[in-house]
Amino acid sequence: MSCLLRIDASASGDASVSRQVADSFTAAWKGDVVRRDLALEPVGHLDAAGITARTTPAGEHTPEQKAAALLQHELVEEFLLLQHELVEEFLGAEAYLFAVPLYNYSIPPVFKAWLDQTMIVGRTTGLAGPAPSAGRPAVVVSARGGGYGPGAPQHGRDFLVPALETILGDANLMALDVRTITPELTYARVMEPFLISEQE
Ligand SMILES: Cc1cc2nc3c(=O)[nH]c(=O)nc-3n(C[C@H](O)[C@H](O)[C@H](O)COP(=O)(O)O)c2cc1C
Repeated sequence: MSCLLRIDASASGDASVSRQVADSFTAAWKGDVVRRDLALEPVGHLDAAGITARTTPAGEHTPEQKAAALLQHELVEEFLLLQHELVEEFLGAEAYLFAVPLYNYSIPPVFKAWLDQTMIVGRTTGLAGPAPSAGRPAVVVSARGGGYGPGAPQHGRDFLVPALETILGDANLMALDVRTITPELTYARVMEPFLISEQE
């Protein structure tokens, strides 16, 4: 059975439009589904321990680094375990569904933290050899309050879709075969009272 990894990043629970579209997609999926809801269970932000633990063999630590490593041992272990779990989950899927809304013209921090923890040279990216996930299908669902299409005043200000399509789709990075769905103007009703009071 083909396995779909679904990652949710909206903080709005059942009211999330990205989730609602992703729910239709998941309901139609015939295989297994593994879910990670970053709003319910955020992954920690990548820090110095997580970065250096990837690249410095313990035998090459300077005395200062040794002291820091001793101090940080549990933290380093924690980050390695976290990265291991995220990487295995990512590599174990055959297809991907990312429900990631537009927050402040960009990627919500919980999803950025997931990317930073999961993208590792030599394990999940194509920077040091072919990406293991190359060519697997992926769908990004990204709801946004405004409109960003050609002719809209905000056209060109969506910095999420270009960034995600590069990170997820570039051959040197995740190398996925990415399709993007952008439900727009979800804030139209929320903004309506403000627009009316402005006109009065
Ligand atoms: C913190 C935050 C920042 C937002 N920033 C933007 C924005 O920059 N542009 C926009 O069009 N909508 C913005 N919105 C509105 C959301 O994109 C909109 O509510 C969308 O439907 C959220 O996706 P969801 O329904 O899947 O949660 C923002 C909402 C929040 C909560």
